[in-house]
Amino acid sequence: MKNDESARKHGRKNEAESRVDESSDESFPASDAPSWTSGVSRGEGGSSASAGRTEYSVRADLKPKGLTGIGEDQIAQHWKLYEGYIKNVNLLNQKLAALRAKKDFGPEFAEFTRRLGFEYDGMILHEHYFGILKAGQKSPSESGGLVQQLKKSFGGFDAWKEEFTAIAKMRGVGWAILYYDPRTRQLTNHWIGLHEEGHPSGFIPVLVLDVWEHAFMVDAGADGRPKYVEAFFKNVDWAKVERCFADAERAAQIVAAV
Ligand SMILES: [Fe+2]
Repeated sequence: MKNDESARKHGRKNEAESRVDESSDESFPASDAPSWTSGVSRGEGGSSASAGRTEYSVRADLKPKGLTGIGEDQIAQHWKLYEGYIKNVNLLNQKLAALRAKKDFGPEFAEFTRRLGFEYDGMILHEHYFGILKAGQKSPSESGGLVQQLKKSFGGFDAWKEEFTAIAKMRGVGWAILYYDPRTRQLTNHWIGLHEEGHPSGFIPVLVLDVWEHAFMVDAGADGRPKYVEAFFKNVDWAKVERCFADAERAAQIVAAV
C-alpha cells in the first residue's frame, strides 16, 4: 500500500491539518463529559506536543446514508459522538506527551492514560459500526467464507443471528461484536461493556453493533432497541463483512507463523 493511501485509511493528517479542531461542541455523552475537556483552547500543545504521535481524523467515507429504518438525523447525531472520540484521542495524546516531556507520571498522567482506552475504543468501534452500514443490502452469500464459518461455529447463519441478537438486546449499554479467534479459527459472539471493557485479546472484530441508547433513541425511543436491531440487519453490508472476515483469516495465518 502506498504511504498516502495508508495514511488516509488510518486517518493520519499532515502537520497543517493536525491541530485539534475545537470548532464543534464537545461530543461526550453528557454523563461522560470529564471536566478537563472544558476550556481547552485551539491548538493547545499542537502537534509538537504530541512528540511525533500520529493524530487521527474523521473517516467521512464511512458515514452511512439512506439506510432502512435508521434515519438521517439519528445517524447525524450519532456521528457527532464519533467525532468527539477522535477529538479526544488526539487531545489526550497531546496532554500525555506534554506530561511525558516533563517526566510527570503522577495522578494526572494515570487518569489520562486510563481514559485513553475509552476514547480509542470509542473511535475504533464506531468506525467498524458505521463502516458496515450501507443502503440497499441483501442477505450474505450462502457459499461465502463467512456463512460457511458461521455454520461451523454456530450451526448456521440463523443460529448465529439468533444468539447475536439476544446479546444485542442484553440490558445495559455496550456493543455486540462478532469476533474471529485467530487461535481456533472460529467466530464467537461477545458483549462489550462501555468501549474498552471485555475485548478478548488478539481476537479480530468482524461485525460490530452499537447498542448504546444514543444509537437508536432518536428513531425509536429509550425502549426501541429491538426495533433498532431489526433495522440494523436490513443495512449490513455483507460484502464488507466478508472482506473483514477474509482479512481476519489472513491475519490468523500471520499469528500462526510467529
Ligand atoms: Fe455509539
